[in-house]
Amino acid sequence: MRLVLAATIAFLSPICIQAFYLPGAAPHDYVVGQQVDLFVNALTPMLISKNNTNSKLKSMINYEYYEPKLKFCVPDDGAIKQPESLGSILFGDRIFNSKYDIKMQKDNGTCQTLCKQSDVTADDAKFINDRIREDYALNWLVDGLPAAEMKKDSKTGELFYDLGFNLGNNDGPFEDYPALNNHYDIVLKYHKPTENTYRIVGVLVWPSSIGGSQTGEPTCDTQNATPLVLSETETQTVHYTYRVTWSESDTTWATRWDNYLHIFDPRIHWFSLINSFVIVLFLCVMVSMILVRSVSRDISRYNAIDLSEDVQEDWGWKLVHGEVFRTPQNPMVLSVMVGNGAQLCSMVGVTLVFALMGFLSPSNRGSLATVMMVCWTLFGGIGGYFSSRVYASLGGTNRKKNSFLTATVLPSFVFIIVFLLNLCLLVAGSSGAVPFGTMLLIVVLWFGISAPLSAIGSYFGSKQGAIHHPVRVNQIPRQIPPGPKYLRPWAAALLSGILPFGAAFVELYFVLSSLFASRAYYAFGFLALTAGVVALTTATVTILFTYFVLCAEEYRWHWRAFLTGGGSAFWVFAYGLFYWASRLSLDSLSSVFIYLGYLFLLTLLDFLVTGTIGFLASYWAVRRLYSAIRID
Ligand SMILES: *[C@@H]1O[C@H](CO)[C@@H](O)[C@H](O)[C@H]1NC(C)=O
Ligand SMILES: *[C@@H]1O[C@H](CO)[C@@H](O)[C@H](O)[C@H]1NC(C)=O
Repeated sequence: MRLVLAATIAFLSPICIQAFYLPGAAPHDYVVGQQVDLFVNALTPMLISKNNTNSKLKSMINYEYYEPKLKFCVPDDGAIKQPESLGSILFGDRIFNSKYDIKMQKDNGTCQTLCKQSDVTADDAKFINDRIREDYALNWLVDGLPAAEMKKDSKTGELFYDLGFNLGNNDGPFEDYPALNNHYDIVLKYHKPTENTYRIVGVLVWPSSIGGSQTGEPTCDTQNATPLVLSETETQTVHYTYRVTWSESDTTWATRWDNYLHIFDPRIHWFSLINSFVIVLFLCVMVSMILVRSVSRDISRYNAIDLSEDVQEDWGWKLVHGEVFRTPQNPMVLSVMVGNGAQLCSMVGVTLVFALMGFLSPSNRGSLATVMMVCWTLFGGIGGYFSSRVYASLGGTNRKKNSFLTATVLPSFVFIIVFLLNLCLLVAGSSGAVPFGTMLLIVVLWFGISAPLSAIGSYFGSKQGAIHHPVRVNQIPRQIPPGPKYLRPWAAALLSGILPFGAAFVELYFVLSSLFASRAYYAFGFLALTAGVVALTTATVTILFTYFVLCAEEYRWHWRAFLTGGGSAFWVFAYGLFYWASRLSLDSLSSVFIYLGYLFLLTLLDFLVTGTIGFLASYWAVRRLYSAIRID
């Protein structure tokens, strides 16, 4: 086991050091004067406000850029929605065209008017001011690159591009009167590979607030401007202006994402990795000491007693040899959970391999979620196969029901939760709600492709039938003596969950931040290694606990193994609550529902994945254990 691990590290370590990705599709070459499109994406709450890196996230809700109350300038012939991938839509992207008129190398440094909005009512002003107080950010895209603000990493002093830029300013003197940014200094960085081709390699925006008269000629004078504070009592005019500056850069097209993929403090990732490996090492030593030594001693002793034909009493796990393969309670539920868990495991595994090989390039928005959805759909067969074989091995007979439940229960449950969260978003007036067409597409994917595949998998699984067991089941069940407290199912689950959770909690912080605070996450090398460590730890700890359970003459190990394996999910949920307390300050009830809903889904999926790993590992170990002893 340790050898495999060492080989894995040697293989993966070059990948972990750098966030690894393939550059996007073919470069877009511009000529002088060619139109450069600027697309606008939904507004998202930002985690970092300007001065205070420890600011909390204040909302979970996205707003479409052309939300009427935000009063942004709409293009003359109306806003047109841009095509997006499934994953991109699911992760809240809503991309539209814009009114900005940008031509390669033209209008360098000229002050331009975008539009004058003369009907910003008191109601609108209140809405906008509230969004400024919640630290909302604008998200633009130029040539596939997100507009960013240049920031300095306070720890390393390195400059990096922070995605998005502020809607307004409510720091320091503007605490009570938030200032709206109505002027944007757009710096487009270009690279010239040959004399007459221009490629865009960086998009920076410095937003600022220019108050005073909103009806005269635009000045774009950001130095001597008073901030624009919207009055919440009367209708007023807002003059939106912008200024484009072209600046030549050495960055090539292939490396243009490097500035964006800033890993805050890579030492934390390394710390997390070392932490994980210490835990794994500790486990391996513990397991080899406890299991291997005592099990081989047990086996030789059991077999020796048989040989000497002494009248001896059996003890320990051998006593329950006639019981270990007795059908547990609810074999149907257990096998459905294992089937779905196996499907999720393969999805996570393949997605991580894709990410490691660099297919999930950041310029391909939403590719991570798209790959996950597609893998989940296509792996329906794996779910059906595992479910039906486990079901048969547990002694179940109602194959059709098993096949049906495997294909439908989890997708329906997840779908219902997502649907309820969607309602929440709709009520809150957010654009984050998944559109009806996308919902329909997901239903088609799940019930049109995944479910039939699952049925086919079930067919093959039940054709192969039950796994052969090394020992027979007795007619009459044994009495179970009272066991120690720490082996009670819930205590064992909580205890055993500590190690896998401990190996992963640092990465978990980054995963939560990227899920909820729209932080880019590209440290896939670290993530894959951590996932491997978690799987290994879960399997070992569960085997260990199953051994203890059997030694205590408690033979009902099936459900316990699943619960013990999934124990880390309870810690993940608790960590999610801690993250809420420390990093979020959600004002609205819908934000709270949405956070808890997604956290619950995350925990549920984690429970199924780790529970399945624990169950299958224990099954394997129990079969090995009982095929090694001689039974009269
Ligand atoms: C940042 O905050 C510190 C104190 O927390 C303050 O002294 C400083 O002026 C602030 N800087 C800006 C740019 O607001
Ligand atoms: C645009 O103007 C800036 C200064 O205002 C200058 O540094 C830059 O070289 C100019 N770019 C072009 C393409 O003229």
